[in-house]
Amino acid sequence: MKRLVAATIAAILLISLVGCSNEANDEVLSSRDITAEPIVTEEPVTSEEEVTAAPEETEIAEDTGSVKSDEEEPTEEETTSDAMGVELTEVSLTMYATDPLNVREGPDAEYEALGQLMVGDAVTVTGELSNGWYRIDYDGTVAYVYGEYLREEEVITEDDYTDVESDDEYYFQSEEDYLILVNKTHLLPDDYKIETDYVQGSYEMEKTAAYYCKLMIEAAAADGINLKVLSAYRTVAYQQKLFDRNVQSRMDDDGMTYEEAYADTAINIAPAGGSEHNAGLAVDIITENDWDTYTGFEDTEEFAWLQEHAAEYGFIMRYASGKEDITGFIYEPWHYRFVGVKYAADIQASGLCLEEYLGVTE
Ligand code: DAL
Ligand code: ZN
Repeated sequence: MKRLVAATIAAILLISLVGCSNEANDEVLSSRDITAEPIVTEEPVTSEEEVTAAPEETEIAEDTGSVKSDEEEPTEEETTSDAMGVELTEVSLTMYATDPLNVREGPDAEYEALGQLMVGDAVTVTGELSNGWYRIDYDGTVAYVYGEYLREEEVITEDDYTDVESDDEYYFQSEEDYLILVNKTHLLPDDYKIETDYVQGSYEMEKTAAYYCKLMIEAAAADGINLKVLSAYRTVAYQQKLFDRNVQSRMDDDGMTYEEAYADTAINIAPAGGSEHNAGLAVDIITENDWDTYTGFEDTEEFAWLQEHAAEYGFIMRYASGKEDITGFIYEPWHYRFVGVKYAADIQASGLCLEEYLGVTE
């Protein structure tokens, strides 16, 4: 089903969505991104129109993804080509991701994503394909990534200089600290430093938020509910890139003026440093097996489960319907913010958005 994603996105690009906002645009609505297969993560599509515009699944012959048998031993500089004329050169390199990047089952954006590389992640490249893709060793599995977002030179990430030296210096010292307000007017402080931990695949969150997020995902799974993480921690630099790309894609694909594109992006994507994703405290959750329900997440059993249980793990749905004027963002049933287990239930029960709860609505 996930193969539908690229085709769905392509169809979405073809319809006029002026005035229709969605953070699927993160990376997803840019034709440049689709063809170049960069990052894929991020916010789900929100429009019913887009759901109905989803095309039929594109069938991909199994053998087109397997340029060379996974069993074969790599040989330096050996070149082979598959039935589609794609040549594979055997290499043995360590490369680094320059952007968040999907890892796929085959050398094309239509193949299923197995996971994601984060900026700075090192990968073992075992083959270079003439179509611009690389074959990699992904934790013992043969997988593929688009080559434009890999380079041989090591990529220094924020993690390299935000390592926390001692707990005393750690940003979060108390449960109250997790109530930090991050929005368009309350940007993260320059000295904001966190330690992150994995929550699912290559998605990371601040370490305490990650701990509770993992508990939540496990608890949901025990109830037969499969929560899929679509986006979690983002660097500030990436947030900026995301914002800019969305502005550009709205101009290129939707025919908006710069002002229109900027305004529409701004109600979907937070400015750099003003996103809870930058704080490592937000996670976007969608359904595992049905792309269409990304758009109608609130109608899913996953959403129902989160409504009932997210607060037990310290999470609140952050951007509620009816609070757009205060939060500055559209309704995002998929975006969950870690505020800590001490306060989450109270915030949820209050019916207030975080700005109101904290009394900071300016
Ligand atoms: N979509 C939310 C507002 C973000 O970009 O953080
Ligand atoms: Zn989000």
